[in-house]
This record gives sequence, structure tokens and C-alpha cells, in this order.
Amino acid sequence: MNSPVRERTERSSTATGPVRGVGRAHAKAILLGEHTVVHGTPAIAFPLPTLSVRAIARPGAPGGVLEIPEGHFGFVAGNPNAAENTLSGPRVAVEEALRRWGLTGQIAEVVMECDIPLARGLGSSAACAGAAVRAVADLHGRTVDAATLYELVQCGEQVAHGRASGIDASAVLADGPIRFHEGTATALDIGLDAALVIADTGVPGSTQHAVAGVRRTLDHDPRAARRVLSRAGELISGAAADLSTGNAPSLGQVMLDFQDLLAELGVSTPHIDTLVAAALDAGAYGAKLTGAGLGGCVLALTETGDARTVSAALRRAGAVQTWTVPTRGLRSSAQPPSAPTSEHGVNP
Ligand code: MEV
Repeated sequence: MNSPVRERTERSSTATGPVRGVGRAHAKAILLGEHTVVHGTPAIAFPLPTLSVRAIARPGAPGGVLEIPEGHFGFVAGNPNAAENTLSGPRVAVEEALRRWGLTGQIAEVVMECDIPLARGLGSSAACAGAAVRAVADLHGRTVDAATLYELVQCGEQVAHGRASGIDASAVLADGPIRFHEGTATALDIGLDAALVIADTGVPGSTQHAVAGVRRTLDHDPRAARRVLSRAGELISGAAADLSTGNAPSLGQVMLDFQDLLAELGVSTPHIDTLVAAALDAGAYGAKLTGAGLGGCVLALTETGDARTVSAALRRAGAVQTWTVPTRGLRSSAQPPSAPTSEHGVNP
């Protein structure tokens, strides 16, 4: 996703219907299965509802100026004169929505306020696309069902990631933890009473670049690729059982084993390795990168009572911000999980 932009448009004076539409989506974290999910394994992810993006959509017309307030992002969809590659994933998602609704030729200005740190593996591009599509749907009085919204966000994600499995699009729209496999998300049973601490390396990572690098690594050695993907599948099955039975030590070990696979795939970094080691030294059961890697965030599993100590250790080791998510709040997919608490940084 690129920086905020100012694009030439003109507020439509002839627009009918609502003056503006609003939409929202939230961040996600992948517990296990990033990268291997692109190559057919399942993956497990959960929503982060208090790290959200709020979008406002208004009708636009060629020739004016889109004013984007400080700290916000924006783009114009459907404007043939718009600059290339600006917030391209969300814009592609909205333009596909307009096409499906028979509204090609309509211009929509979208301005977003985003709590989700960009390019840190927390789903900012998918969440911006989801919020933007919801806002434009609201603007035009359209109802979007869950399957259509997923497809539209996926259109944007294919642009943002090169090849997107769909886990980000599913998780940023989900209201509980999911197991995702080959385009289908199912609600996951969680019986674990522990805490997940997310630590931001402060380093932006390119998902597109990481996904392309993993593909090259797998293509280079098909036998090693089969071994890695089969091991990933075993680990993810074991993790689903651990989540259900509440076996935190076993799940922590699975996370460490999965981190080894991700390192073998070339997406860990010395900074990530340092944060993983710091979490373990502070008493975490396990830790790994989350998202595409090559920067981004680390996820650690701890006893609830150790979460503060682990967060502090992660910050001492160089994390720029951390968030703690109690796993008991992830149990029900029918209700939003309880709010993650922020120790540092942007999250209220
Ligand atoms: C990115 O959050 C997750 C990846 O597996 C890419 C994808 O699944 O689309 C790296």
C-alpha cells in the first residue's frame, strides 16, 4: 500500500442518494500456516477487532481535489485520471464492486482512518479493502453478503500480494478465530486459557516480495518443498487439537517448529529471531513470526500472568509496540472476541 495521496476530483453536485457511506474492518493475526497456506495447507488465524480501519465514501467526479486529513489515507475509485498504484488493492476491490453493481463510470472518493500498522503482517491491505467496499456499498444503498465481500477483498489482495490465499480477506472480516483451507473458513473451537502477545518489529515487510521468494525456494527443490508442506500440515492439525484441549505447552512447541519452517523458507530475519528468543527467555511457551515476515510482527504464546513480562522483554529486545490478546476472548465466533490490550503504541 502506498502513502496518502491527493488526487484530482470534483465533488459531485448532482449526486442523489446518501451523501456518504461508512464501513469498517479489523486487523488479523495468523497463528500458524502463513506462506504454506498459499501452497495448499490449512492455516489458523484470529481477528484483532480493536485494531480497525474506518472508511467514509462520498460521490466524486473528475477534476476536483480529494482532501485527505492528516493521518488518514484516501483514494478515488473509478476515476480514469487517478494516479497509478495508490492504495491499489482497496481501489481495485471497490472498482470491481462498482462493476458488479452496474455502476461503472461512478466515481467514489474514499477516506480511511487506520489503526492497523501498515505492512506489518496484520492485514492492513485486506482490512482497508473491506472497509472501503462496505463504505461504497453503504453510499449506494447496496447490501453485500459475506461471500461477495470476501471475493471483492480478494480481488484487491491478488493485486497487493501477487498471489493471495484468501486467509487475510477471511480473517479481517471474521468475528472469531478461523481455520482456513483452500478458500473456505470454518469457525475454530478454542479451549485455551493463555495470552498471545504480538510484537511489532517496526520494519515494514512486503507480502508480495515474501510470497514470491517462498515460491522460488519451493520451486527450487520440490522434494524439500513436499517435506516442508507435509510437516506444516501436521503441525497445523496438532495446533487445532491443542487449541481445543487447551494444551499451551504443546501449542508453544508447534509455534517454534513452524518458525523453523518459516526460517527455512527464507522469511525470518535476525530481528525476528531476536524477538523470538527474547520471548522464550521471558517465559513464553513459544513464538514465531506472524504474516508474511521479512519484518512485520512476532507472535508469542504465554501464561496470562506472564504476558506483561513477555511484552516488556519484547520491547527491550527492540519491538516498537506490543499488544496482548487473551485467548479466552477468542472462544466464540458468534460474538466479537474480547479486545486486545495495548502496552505501547497506537491501540487504545
Ligand atoms: C499474509 O498475511 C499471509 C501469506 O500467507 C500470504 C497469503 O496467504 O495470501 C504470506
